[in-house]
Amino acid sequence: MTLPNGPETLPFFQVLQAIFKPLETLTNNVQKYGDCYTAKLGGLGSVVVLSQPEAIEAMMTAPVDLFESGQSNAIFRPFLGSNSILMLDGKVHQRKRKLLTPPFHGERLKTYGEAICEITQEVTSRWQPGQTFSMRTVIQEISLRVIMRTVLGVHTGKRAEQLRQNLDEMLSFFEKPFNSMFVFIPWLQKDWGAWSPWGKVTRQIKQIDTLLFTEIQERRANPALLGDDILSLMMTARDEEGQPMTDQELRDEMMTLLFAGHETTATAIAWALYWIHHLPEVGQKLHKELDELEENCDPVAISRLPYLSAICDETLRIYPVGLFTFTRMLKKPWTLMGKALEKGTQLSGCIYLLHHRPDLYPNPEQFRPDRFLERQFSLYEYIPFGGGNRRCLGMAFALFEMKLVLMSILSEWQLELNTNKPIKPVRRGFTMAPEKGVPMRVVKRR
Ligand code: HEM
Repeated sequence: MTLPNGPETLPFFQVLQAIFKPLETLTNNVQKYGDCYTAKLGGLGSVVVLSQPEAIEAMMTAPVDLFESGQSNAIFRPFLGSNSILMLDGKVHQRKRKLLTPPFHGERLKTYGEAICEITQEVTSRWQPGQTFSMRTVIQEISLRVIMRTVLGVHTGKRAEQLRQNLDEMLSFFEKPFNSMFVFIPWLQKDWGAWSPWGKVTRQIKQIDTLLFTEIQERRANPALLGDDILSLMMTARDEEGQPMTDQELRDEMMTLLFAGHETTATAIAWALYWIHHLPEVGQKLHKELDELEENCDPVAISRLPYLSAICDETLRIYPVGLFTFTRMLKKPWTLMGKALEKGTQLSGCIYLLHHRPDLYPNPEQFRPDRFLERQFSLYEYIPFGGGNRRCLGMAFALFEMKLVLMSILSEWQLELNTNKPIKPVRRGFTMAPEKGVPMRVVKRR
């Protein structure tokens, strides 16, 4: 297969570079091979990496049946199962999106506003001045409770607490960048018993499954337990043949939403808190905007605040939580910007490289929210949530949650960073997270 040029380093070493030095490797590759190059990633195959808005637009606006992503997303299968929306393509994928889009948008979204503020206040009410926290850990508790409430309808109670703990423990395995190897190198995924690294992850997943299956069975046995949460919605949905989703399908989709819907948002909020406190002028400008808010302001009005929105956008630009869009695999030959590509070629938009193009974002290493107030970026110049038919289902929800959690914390607490040194991004499983989780000290209640 003829592919665009790229590094000739052995594929196994390219995988290690992608795990341990992802940002440096991307920057070096784009400088050496240009904004369309091929990375060889061992078991994950060769991927053509795109970082030009025109190329990304062509990929995201191409006919839906040109690509499939399910097979390339197999990397998520051990966690999410084979029925997750991430693993689906074609009509089944479209149907799933149609079912799962409304609960994360419009009127339904608004109803979550109060819950997000309440949960943030519940978790932060335990804080005492003088205490120090890893903000990422605290926010992870908030975002996990929020997504549990949305997906399951509950975030307290014995089973919910157990589920929260198990999910937390499973994800904390990836706190060490070294453990990310188990995600990207499939032959390391061997269960050698309860004490082996992958054995621990497998057991955590089994415990989570038991809790999720129990929840499903209870609701099946007692339809009065069905509410307006997303699990209930999925349980009452029927496919074209009038068939309901199986227990395994329900489990895989719940796991997908719980997994995709909290770690990502928690990381983004922790980064935003870092920038707001690391750059005093950013913090001052934001406080001025928040101080002008009327008391008991409607969550939707908060989500429209221009400077708060610009901070969230810039946070997701400078260190996007996911470095890449999902991989799209060609189902037939295709020509992309004059380059003939064969069937089977895998393409991916590099969010990080696109967001660091100096022609779009002058001084890309500088955190400057005002760039989002001075100009509007197109759907293919700014893609923290990907795009096209695979665009993140939780985009509106995640942005809403980011703004409400930030507002709830900052209007109630005065915090300061525990370090003057710049915090660097490090790999945490599939995401890029702040090193040491943004350590912060609670100064006082406002
Ligand atoms: C800051 C937070 C988040 C970021 C940065 C993020 C980013 C992404 C990205 C880059 C993709 C791949 C899109 C593509 O390839 O074009 C994606 C897909 C997805 N995200 Fe998110 N996400 C976030 C939060 C959420 C939330 C809160 C949920 C759900 C509650 C969610 C659910 C999903 C799902 C289900 C998909 C797969 C869509 C499909 O295959 O059709 N995400 N996300």
